[in-house]
Amino acid sequence: MIKPHGSDRLDPRFVYDTERHHALSREAESLPSLLLNSAAAANAVMLGAGYFNPLAGYMNKADALSVAATLHTTGGLFWPVPVVNLTSDAAAIRGAKRIALRDPNVPGNPVLAVQTVEAIEEFSEAEITTMAEQIFRTLDPKHPGVSTFTGLGRIVVSGPVEVLNFSYFQQDFPDTFRTAVEIRNEIAERGWQKVVAFQTRNPMHRAHEELCKMAKEAVGADGILIHMLLGKLKAGDIPAHVRDAAIRKMVELYFPANTVMITGYGFDMLYAGPREAVLHAVFRQNCGCTHLIVGRDHAGVGSYYGAFDAQTIFDEQVPAGALAIQIFRADNTAYSKKLHRVVMMRDAPDHAQEDFVQPSGTKVREMLAAGQDLPIEFARPEVARILMAYYQEEAKQ
Ligand code: ADX
Repeated sequence: MIKPHGSDRLDPRFVYDTERHHALSREAESLPSLLLNSAAAANAVMLGAGYFNPLAGYMNKADALSVAATLHTTGGLFWPVPVVNLTSDAAAIRGAKRIALRDPNVPGNPVLAVQTVEAIEEFSEAEITTMAEQIFRTLDPKHPGVSTFTGLGRIVVSGPVEVLNFSYFQQDFPDTFRTAVEIRNEIAERGWQKVVAFQTRNPMHRAHEELCKMAKEAVGADGILIHMLLGKLKAGDIPAHVRDAAIRKMVELYFPANTVMITGYGFDMLYAGPREAVLHAVFRQNCGCTHLIVGRDHAGVGSYYGAFDAQTIFDEQVPAGALAIQIFRADNTAYSKKLHRVVMMRDAPDHAQEDFVQPSGTKVREMLAAGQDLPIEFARPEVARILMAYYQEEAKQ
């Protein structure tokens, strides 16, 4: 199977040993506490689940600056986005060697992880701004990733973590949340050699269904890993449980049995477009996938990124050999009224825009909220029904 990123074996930071787990939980009771922000908590979950292999914990200031600027740590590890524990108030943990990291997303703020503090440093305003611009390619405060990142605090608490649980993800998404370890194991059990991963934060329509099928066919994959984001999204995005139900229905009805794994990971959406696409590739490699689909405006928001910037970054900023996973580059995909099937636009050069069925996101939302059926060329009716129920419920509130 494909090797994890940066090491021969996956080394998740979750504490599997029950005695050690017990001892850490006890120790945490008497440690100084830091209430994490959601981004840092999500980083802990990803470190615990093995997705962020080979990182052992949160980056220090020099590594974060280096990763933002060059996509490499100071030690030379390829890594696309800083993994940091930022706070605006470190008074309670000054001088502490070990601290309990408390979960902001679970009532009562239970301990999520124990961190060994290597350094507590501070970024200047200018350094935060520079990193934000390097990661997001914009400083527009209306960009949801920029506003989140620049609001996390200036103080950076670095050092390795030992993770005690997976926050709310296991409880809220028992059938869907998986660690990278579990996905690797399941791929091995299924005997799949080539696996193509599909990242998503949205319900899947005909274009996405066909994209997965086309990618599987094109790379000769044994199976598809649908891997959805289960963490926080910007307002207006479809909540994970609705998307999960819609995707399950689509796979049940429209994919051959035993060709798809429906899974999810516990991370908040960054909306970092190209940089996030590279991060996506890193952690799909850690799951054991050989390919990742990167299509139009992958991990994008608004019009901050060019439609295919998330593909070209792999040519421009990912050195040869830095990653073992390969990218399946998808062109804009939609149903062709001329060919009566879903196609990638590059495969239909004689088509004009109006030859495709591709309603805007706003139009789709309006139709669903008004109880109107979506064109069957665009969405499977069974999927549309699940989304319609959600939007109509929303409209009542
Ligand atoms: S993302 O933020 O998770 O990337 P989304 O769930 O909308 O958003 O997209 C999942 C994947 O499908 C991404 O790789 C995206 O580029 C691709 N994609 C979505 N819609 C299309 C489309 N119509 N044509 C080509 N690729 C698409």
